[in-house]
Amino acid sequence: MAEPEQITPLPTHVAIVMDGNGRWAGQRRLPRLAGHRAGTENIRRIIRAFSDYGVQYLTLYAFSTENWTRPSEEVRGLFGILREVIDRETRALHEAGVQIRHLGSLEGVPADLAAAIGRGVRLTQGNNKLVLCIAFNYGGRLEIVEAVRAIFRAGVSPEQIDADLISKHLYTAGIPDPDLIIRTAGEMRLSNLLIWQAAYAEYYSTPTLWPDFDLEEVRAALLAFSRRERKFGGRPPE
Ligand code: IPE
Ligand code: IPE
Ligand code: MG
Repeated sequence: MAEPEQITPLPTHVAIVMDGNGRWAGQRRLPRLAGHRAGTENIRRIIRAFSDYGVQYLTLYAFSTENWTRPSEEVRGLFGILREVIDRETRALHEAGVQIRHLGSLEGVPADLAAAIGRGVRLTQGNNKLVLCIAFNYGGRLEIVEAVRAIFRAGVSPEQIDADLISKHLYTAGIPDPDLIIRTAGEMRLSNLLIWQAAYAEYYSTPTLWPDFDLEEVRAALLAFSRRERKFGGRPPE
């Protein structure tokens, strides 16, 4: 495959709210799980595409702490698809130098799926081509609550608490904040993804449904990012 064009500046960390699987299935009169299957199968080429451009951290929002409110058949079906795909793809990701990290809680997650995630994380922990964060059973508020609990348990005094200390107790410890957050299916909200870390992220929303999000969409999102002016509260140079 030809080298992709250079896009600069490139985000170091891209996070994606992979939304629209249900609508994709509905448009085809298929069951929702067919949409989750198509969406999950789309992940491989998207990881590859971001990695080829040189993005170093990619977060994929796979299941939120609020997604438990969906009917249990959908939750169970989605978990089954995820387990199968993680088991199937882990070796290829390892060979491509991808390090898998899990963001979220494994509490209440079926043992076979939790074990598959654990295997993927352990196998790939020494890799450094791309860090792939799977936000699974993830909620930004839960993440902050767990960080605050850990800080209290460690007996930290109030004066020692600062933003850096909180960041170090989040699931994303050691991972730079996202520079670009992409959401598919036209929605314009975070839905509890990386709410602390997204303080200065650039947002990009596309009407394309997640299973249809392709290489041209990756390029368009990165190009849009490259044209943004990031100020971080300061003043742009005169
Ligand atoms: C996103 O697709 C995947 C998950 C939330 C697990 P949806 O299932 O939310 O799709 P829509 O929003 O109903 O189209
Ligand atoms: C966000 O999508 C969660 C994931 C993509 C995993 P949702 O479809 O659950 O978000 P809302 O309910 O539209 O905010
Ligand atoms: Mg949705």
